[in-house]
Amino acid sequence: MKFFLDTADLNEIEEAASWGALAGVTTNPTLYARIGGRLADFPAHIGRICALVDGPVSAETVETRRDGIVEEGRALAAIAPNVVVKVPTMVEGLAATRTLANEGIRVNMTLCFTVPQALLAARSGARYVSPFVGRFDDSSEDGLEHLSNIVIALNNYDFTKAGVADESIEVIAASIRSANHVTQAALLGADIATVPFNVLKKCLEHPLTTSGLTSFLNDWEKVRNA
Ligand code: G3P
Repeated sequence: MKFFLDTADLNEIEEAASWGALAGVTTNPTLYARIGGRLADFPAHIGRICALVDGPVSAETVETRRDGIVEEGRALAAIAPNVVVKVPTMVEGLAATRTLANEGIRVNMTLCFTVPQALLAARSGARYVSPFVGRFDDSSEDGLEHLSNIVIALNNYDFTKAGVADESIEVIAASIRSANHVTQAALLGADIATVPFNVLKKCLEHPLTTSGLTSFLNDWEKVRNA
């Protein structure tokens, strides 16, 4: 499973990228608003993220009609070669995804919750689909079970584009709230988990790692002083 960072914060992206394991970034309008982003700066900001990350960067459309989504998607895709256009999983989004995919523009269908939504995203030519785990949990449903169902259903069919193995649809486990969500997403076979920076940090933490390191360093001091 690959790790994407779910943020629009350049400092977080730069730091996570420096760790050497970051495969991409996902953003959304809420994440851009959270960093105080302004409309006029949005394309340049996405460009800056694209320069920091060696991998796909999802930038979300905010139009709700297919023509508008397509136009916005084309403009976003023109920012950098690694831009992926994020489109909501709905009728207008599906139609726009087909048009964008036909033009060779990669689409990440977001706000996906169900198996039929994911199958339709795949059939519309989406390169990625993003089932939201945490938001299901928020509404007292088991988000991981829904994620599992989506992974199983997509794996029942061959969505590989014209025999190009690395161009089949990939599942991005999104709305990830904990390291346990990451563990379970990997065990369920999600291709990617997109995680907030605080969760990425938590993924590297374990009390036995901390206490083990302390013990090794203490013992090495004894070696130094022997
Ligand atoms: O990128 C979309 C998704 O990860 C949002 O997560 O925590 O707002 O449900 P959250």
